Amino acid sequence: SWTKRNGEAGLASAATPQVSTAAVAPPMWLLAELTYRCPLHCAFCYNPVDYAANRKELSTEQWLDVLRQGRELGAAQLGFSGGEPLLRDDLEQLVAAGNRLGYYTNLITSGIGLTEQRIAAFKAAGLDHIQLSFQDSTREMNDFLSSTRTFDLKARVAKLIKQYDYPMVLNVVLHRYNLDHVERIIDMALEMGVEYLELANTQYYGWGMVNRAQLMPTREQLERAEAVVNACRERIGSRLRILFVVPDYFESRPKACMNGWGSVFLAVAADGAALPCHAARTIPGLSFPNVTEESLKQIWYESDAFNKFRGDAWMKEPCRTCDDKHKDYGGCRCQALALTGDAANADPVCSKSPQHGDIVRIVRQAQASQAAAGAEAPLVFRSDANSRLLSQQ
Ligand code: FES
Repeated sequence: SWTKRNGEAGLASAATPQVSTAAVAPPMWLLAELTYRCPLHCAFCYNPVDYAANRKELSTEQWLDVLRQGRELGAAQLGFSGGEPLLRDDLEQLVAAGNRLGYYTNLITSGIGLTEQRIAAFKAAGLDHIQLSFQDSTREMNDFLSSTRTFDLKARVAKLIKQYDYPMVLNVVLHRYNLDHVERIIDMALEMGVEYLELANTQYYGWGMVNRAQLMPTREQLERAEAVVNACRERIGSRLRILFVVPDYFESRPKACMNGWGSVFLAVAADGAALPCHAARTIPGLSFPNVTEESLKQIWYESDAFNKFRGDAWMKEPCRTCDDKHKDYGGCRCQALALTGDAANADPVCSKSPQHGDIVRIVRQAQASQAAAGAEAPLVFRSDANSRLLSQQ
């Protein structure tokens, strides 16, 4: 399984640091990962690689209860994601409940299934925000990367979003296959009337990790794209805000992943498992409480899973004595696990990590294998069949 492929390095034996409940702030973000079903097959999807083995989904009643508890706990932002959240027939009902409870509600979608009838129903239900994803500015690459014919459909959905007077927020995941198209992507965003464009380079989790060698850009490619983005920002001004997120592997300081474990973010997976981040299930030795068995309040304040990497008591060197430890929280736990075999290590993106050299080597190797003609492995697309295959390895 995915867990096994990341090594069995133990967290089970390390004691969970004690965290005083009084010092823990409530979550700000509740992310409802309603389903892992998805009509697309993106090769960089961050969903668990072994998703096909777990088809369980919470019922409408159970989700309504989660939303109510999340709001009582203090969460103010509610995200509906997946998979593709539009595959849930009760989404309108959940949006309406989120709105009544006083959340700011966000729909994070590929757009597939967003008909005029449904968007009108979401508007009536009080949905505040829609984030639409595209894979590229060209039909060919969009459809290749998602292994579907969805470009024209997405373009129609973009028009509907404008027509229903939503702020237009577009997300495009970048990597080696589309980094050279950033200018065209920005022009496409302008034509669509996008107000906020998120150009997020692939991070290597889930299916992105499976395809890491194929998706990895060269440093030159990345620098060129960043220069193009900066020139476009000058040209366009405030009409379109562009966020450009550099891939971790090209940084020397880690990101403050989730703004710190168990600090602001609470995700509930399709089957009801409560997670401090999307990828937390890859960490062996941690068991995640389920909302069908425990209250969100218990989960947030008392569970081992949420307390495991809260605060700084769990940190080892070099994080423990680092001046930046309350700025970056040692980086990403899941990345530390995937790359060093121990989630309590410093994220090796950090140049102070003894394993930082491994990242430099991984980038170099990916580039060497891409350069060797014919040696490149094909992309592994997200699908039930591939999920089962990878889970057996
Ligand atoms: Fe899990 Fe960063 S993705 S802590």
